[in-house]
Amino acid sequence: MTGLLSAADLDPDMLAEMFRLSESFLEVSSRRIPKVPALRGRTVVSLFYEDSTRTRLSFETAAKRLSADVMTFSVGTSSVNKGESVRDTIETIEAMGIDAIVVRHGCAGVPAQVAQWTDAAVVNAGDGAHEHPTQALLDCFTLQQRFGSLDGLRIAIVGDIRHSRVARSDVAMMSALGASVTLVAPATLMPPSLEGWPVATSSSLDDVAGDVDVVYLLRMQTERMGQHLMPSMREYTARFGLTARRAARMNPDAVILHPGPMNRGVEISGEVAELPNALVVDQVRNGVAVRMAVLWWLLGSGTELVPSVDSAVPTADVEDDRG
Ligand code: NCD
Repeated sequence: MTGLLSAADLDPDMLAEMFRLSESFLEVSSRRIPKVPALRGRTVVSLFYEDSTRTRLSFETAAKRLSADVMTFSVGTSSVNKGESVRDTIETIEAMGIDAIVVRHGCAGVPAQVAQWTDAAVVNAGDGAHEHPTQALLDCFTLQQRFGSLDGLRIAIVGDIRHSRVARSDVAMMSALGASVTLVAPATLMPPSLEGWPVATSSSLDDVAGDVDVVYLLRMQTERMGQHLMPSMREYTARFGLTARRAARMNPDAVILHPGPMNRGVEISGEVAELPNALVVDQVRNGVAVRMAVLWWLLGSGTELVPSVDSAVPTADVEDDRG
């Protein structure tokens, strides 16, 4: 594997391996000095053409915990503002000698295109409304941690499915791992065609909330909406928001996920976001470990076969490792 562009790049065996690695990197992250020299001398570039808080910080933290050098590209202060194309930007950074590029872009397909232009490993950190494979990885890892396995889990993904790259990647990965997914949204927020999606659908959160193990809430992505797809946010919340009243009807063991950023009071009430079964903070914590696993997988092993993590991940703190 020379990159991670889509959730479909990882089959269930690779996912199991990725989760095993993530578990080890979670342990690394909990150390007093949460750093290993696994990718020392390697350079990871984060190339974000779209806003991001957690995904960008998560990738950069992951790379740093593996001792890679990190180059950060900010569109706002780069020559993109002088009209430089993505291709010229890639050629420029590649000439500096890099090993991986983490790309986020508002247009679907840009990371795949970038992968054609570079020998570096390319990781898709979100492309338009298309895919966000590392988000799906951290979501599935969080669920596996909580439930032991995704096989047979009933998952409702609720909200703005139409504009959600998270939903696309999650549906693919969760169903590959044996979960059954129901999309819950008004017709205007469903994708124009669901052909090939292994899902059930519903237009009533009230009907579904009590019957699932996981309620996965999506943000209303108004920045991608060319037109008003709901009469008002208030109306959306009244029908599809996870209010305290709806949350109280969920199974006692069921959990709530959200990729962030949350719009409290819209898709999730402030009170619900603080419930012990809302795993949003676990998702963020796991995100760093999962991205360490992805970067290690792509850059560390040198082959497609990832050696057992006990031998692969150096245990010494970097402080002990100064030559
Ligand atoms: C998501 C994204 O950017 O696709 N956020 C994230 O990566 N954690 C979801 C969103 O923006 O709503």
